[in-house]
Amino acid sequence: MDNVKKTVFSAVQPTGKITLGNYLGAIRNWTPLQNEYDCLYCVADLHSLTVTQVPAELRKNTLELAALYLACGIDPSKSSLFIQSHVHEHAELAWILDTIAYVGEMNRMTQFKDKSRKHADNINMGLMNYPVLMASDILLYQAHLVPIGKDQTQHLEITRDIAERFNGRYSDTFVVPEALTFRTGASIKSLQDPTAKMSKSDPNENATVTLFDDKDAIRRKLRRAVTDCDTSIRYGEDKPAISNLLTIYSLCSGESVKDAEKRFDGQGYGTFKDAVADSVISVIEPIQTKQRRIIADKSYLEGVLKQGAEQAERIARKTLDKVYRKVGLVGRFR
Ligand code: TYM
Repeated sequence: MDNVKKTVFSAVQPTGKITLGNYLGAIRNWTPLQNEYDCLYCVADLHSLTVTQVPAELRKNTLELAALYLACGIDPSKSSLFIQSHVHEHAELAWILDTIAYVGEMNRMTQFKDKSRKHADNINMGLMNYPVLMASDILLYQAHLVPIGKDQTQHLEITRDIAERFNGRYSDTFVVPEALTFRTGASIKSLQDPTAKMSKSDPNENATVTLFDDKDAIRRKLRRAVTDCDTSIRYGEDKPAISNLLTIYSLCSGESVKDAEKRFDGQGYGTFKDAVADSVISVIEPIQTKQRRIIADKSYLEGVLKQGAEQAERIARKTLDKVYRKVGLVGRFR
């Protein structure tokens, strides 16, 4: 019997304010995995550089995101929590994988096409290589499972292709990872356009609830959320806006969508939206309190990140040495 624990890896970019979508689609699902798997959770600061950043803000967002992971329940005695750029092997493996990935397949990535449209003045090579760096993050740790939202599944597919291609060319080296997406919440939609995902980079601030919004902002944004044509509160393909709100309500309150439909049957959108806001506040407020406490304790946070980087680096070094050997690089003389 195989007693070795499987490895889980995931990351979020510290670009802008983390949204309810990031939380419900990804971070929230990380915590329960800690008991069963060896988990590594990373703040993907190198990925953030693919769009223009204000350096001081990037530094602030990076530490705030690490504190948020802890506030959301990531336990450093169970998981490794670290900043991507602290483990230089990520960038090094990405270079090797760049020689495995094809320009054509990177060009076809939906996120690359979207971001190229949005940032037409800055279509840099990093934006195109983004999925290769992501593959490097995952493959460095021989991760079996990658808990992500639906929008990242294409990047996971390309990671699998790159791993299989490398293994085929140089013999078995990487574990071929699998995406772990959850049926509910894998794609939380914009509050202003239920056909688009809720996104950190949305310029319309009413479209997203962030984990940094106060009570009033959350209530206001939910009251302003667009609705569908008829007034019923029901889940269905023809009701994308209300379905999104029901999903948010269900995940935040713990009540099933079916029960919520019954509870709000015949009630107006106003009552329903206030209840959604209450449920969101009940989830976000305790996280904010904890996050503030952690941010204020600089030495604790730095200690966690130092330990996380050391733990991660030990694994990363092993994989990178193996990869360098396999591709024919001469090992350093010591
Ligand atoms: P990022 O920072 O865009 O998103 C972080 C996580 O949040 C999920 N997500 C959503 N889930 C549901 N509904 C939404 N509206 C929504 N928006 C975002 C994303 O699917 C993701 O799981 N490239 C990654 C970061 C990364 C990474 C990795 C992830 C870097 N290296 C290695 C996994 C493994 C990203 O863009 O995350």
